[in-house]
Amino acid sequence: MERDVELSLIERALAHIAADTREVTGAVVRRPVADYLDPARFAAEQEVLFRDHPVVVAHSAQLPTPGSYVTHDHSGLPLLITRDEHAGLHAFANVCRHRGARLCTAPAGTGRRLTCPFHGWTYDLAGSLRGVPQAEGFAGYDPCGFGLAPVPVAERHGFVFARPRVGGAPIDLDTLIGGLDADLSARRPEGHVLARRRWEVACNWKVLLDNFLEMYHVPVLHRENIGPLFEPNRSLYDRFGRNGRRIDPRASIRRLVGEPQDRWRLRDHALVTYHLFPNVQTFWTQDYLSWLSVWPVSVDRTICEQLIVAEWAADTDERRAHLQANLDLFDQTLGEDFAMSEGVQIGLRSGALEQVTFAGFEGGAAAVHVAIDELLAGRAGHPVDLVAGP
Ligand code: FES
Ligand SMILES: [Fe+2]
Repeated sequence: MERDVELSLIERALAHIAADTREVTGAVVRRPVADYLDPARFAAEQEVLFRDHPVVVAHSAQLPTPGSYVTHDHSGLPLLITRDEHAGLHAFANVCRHRGARLCTAPAGTGRRLTCPFHGWTYDLAGSLRGVPQAEGFAGYDPCGFGLAPVPVAERHGFVFARPRVGGAPIDLDTLIGGLDADLSARRPEGHVLARRRWEVACNWKVLLDNFLEMYHVPVLHRENIGPLFEPNRSLYDRFGRNGRRIDPRASIRRLVGEPQDRWRLRDHALVTYHLFPNVQTFWTQDYLSWLSVWPVSVDRTICEQLIVAEWAADTDERRAHLQANLDLFDQTLGEDFAMSEGVQIGLRSGALEQVTFAGFEGGAAAVHVAIDELLAGRAGHPVDLVAGP
């Protein structure tokens, strides 16, 4: 993040605290409850947002050396992401070209070759077929035509994006994250993967995303854990294309009043969170990067995955204890979010409401629905159904 941006964000936060106001970034937005229940809309979202649109499928720290690979199963296309012997990045359908078996069954690993567990076909990490047991049985077939099916992949600032569509268009990173380059380049992309965890939650993926995109609920739902750490619902929100940046001032930011500006450090007194459209919410603490991604399973089931990457390894008792304390806090707050989201899904399904309502200060949540509408509107039969105004 550029220094002048950092200072202006702190000034914005302190001005709201001094005036006891909060930032209202838009009109009240009402959304049809059907958006969270309709199987046809759900199917369109899966295709348009999670197959046609690039999604973050790994962090560079999961692919640290030539020969590293990691699998990803939540986009609708089982993916194998690799770094070949020349450190080139690839992504493939994790599907053997012989008869369709899952090629790589481990979640991650390192090696020069990947061998299919069904009949033993072997591939290198650039996706070329390298070995076929009893190859004489395939007389007349050229092994070059049996490489793994590639999908577009690209990497910047530690984020590995794939477009989970065999034959899909290349990924244009400038369009995808260009406006956030200055922010996201601030941290080194390598690091140690401290945790990769996932949960299945009984709600529509947008219910959980809505929850993650606003701080209105934090002083209420999370009053027993993280609530008191933050200025109550004092977020600053800025959009960058379809992505967003949210600054959540901590209560400690008040200490900067009267301090010389050259001592102002935003990250010491605020959580800086980025929403990478459509489904990733990521932030750095002083200690580590965390991201939460939500992946649609069915209209009322969602996978939530958390990845924690740090510049330090959990290799001493003290560090392991520190990591565990952080995981415990996540477990408490996420447990509250998951339980609340499952209750919301029941409420939406009950038929009691026709619309849900977002305040003008829930800008991140409202904006993502607009972006989803825009993309779905490009597909026949999926109208823009935003209703704005109180
Ligand atoms: S399906 Fe992979 S070797 Fe047969
Ligand atoms: Fe929450």
